[in-house]
Amino acid sequence: MPEELWKTAITNVEPGKIRVRGYNITDIMEKLSYAETVYLILKGELPSKAEAELMNAILVSSIDHSATPPSVLGARTVISGGNSLNAAVAGGVLVIGDTHGGAIENSARIMQQWAKKDDDVNNIAEELVTWLKENKKRMPGFGHRLHKVDPRTAKLFEIAQRNGYKGKHIDLCKAIEKTLEQKLGKKLPINVDGAIAAVISDMGFDWRLGKAFFIISRVPGLVAHAYEEMTREKPMRKLGPLPFTYDGPPDREI
Ligand SMILES: CC(C)(COP(=O)(O)OP(=O)(O)OC[C@H]1O[C@@H](n2cnc3c(N)ncnc32)[C@H](O)[C@@H]1OP(=O)(O)O)[C@@H](O)C(=O)NCCC(=O)NCCS
Repeated sequence: MPEELWKTAITNVEPGKIRVRGYNITDIMEKLSYAETVYLILKGELPSKAEAELMNAILVSSIDHSATPPSVLGARTVISGGNSLNAAVAGGVLVIGDTHGGAIENSARIMQQWAKKDDDVNNIAEELVTWLKENKKRMPGFGHRLHKVDPRTAKLFEIAQRNGYKGKHIDLCKAIEKTLEQKLGKKLPINVDGAIAAVISDMGFDWRLGKAFFIISRVPGLVAHAYEEMTREKPMRKLGPLPFTYDGPPDREI
């Protein structure tokens, strides 16, 4: 009996032939942008014009946010310890989590699950924010340490609107922002993670792919920081942490 083969639906490779999701790689190389190809490999189908523009904007939006994000500090610290570029980039990616870059995943999960509850996004937002408040939870994808209005959010939604790209999740996202302000008395702007979460949800991506959009976007930024650290800074330089004090046990004997 032949052993049963496991299956993959991503790329078919035979001698002299490479087909990604059924399309010839040489045609893809000539006819599709990188963003369109990322859409194809993740979704399995080609994007519409609006989806292609949005995908490109998503991948550009999170490419870098200067030297302070935890993933950049992670990548630079790995180089500083005398390691290679690949170790630094892997280290930076490992730092990405639910509160840094990874908010896309939870934001998309909540929006996708709650969007099914009612036809009216304002009713959903009302119920969701009440639930968040009662359970003392934060809405991922909203609020920012620095930006009062996240310019990347406005641009993503502008591109969607210009292309006539409408969807319930984008509408719900805007309704949540409005309701958070009404019910919590605080302006918590939709940050880039929240905007990406809404757009990918309208594109029909599973929320479990949420972190992928940030990782794919941020890796070139991490490479640039790791390379700059390698070529401009001396190894083991003082790279954080912020001033701190010791408050553990006093000196003692065994
Ligand atoms: C991004 C974030 C850490 C920035 O926080 P910050 O501006 O430093 O604000 P703080 O953490 O000090 O919170 C200030 C107040 O706003 C509230 N708040 C902040 N973000 C909130 C959110 N997303 N949902 C609900 N309440 C929120 C806090 O509960 C706090 O309330 P309190 O003063 O009554 O205790 C914060 O907004 C957050 O946790 N957002 C959700 C995670 C997220 O989207 N991360 C991706 C960032 S790009």
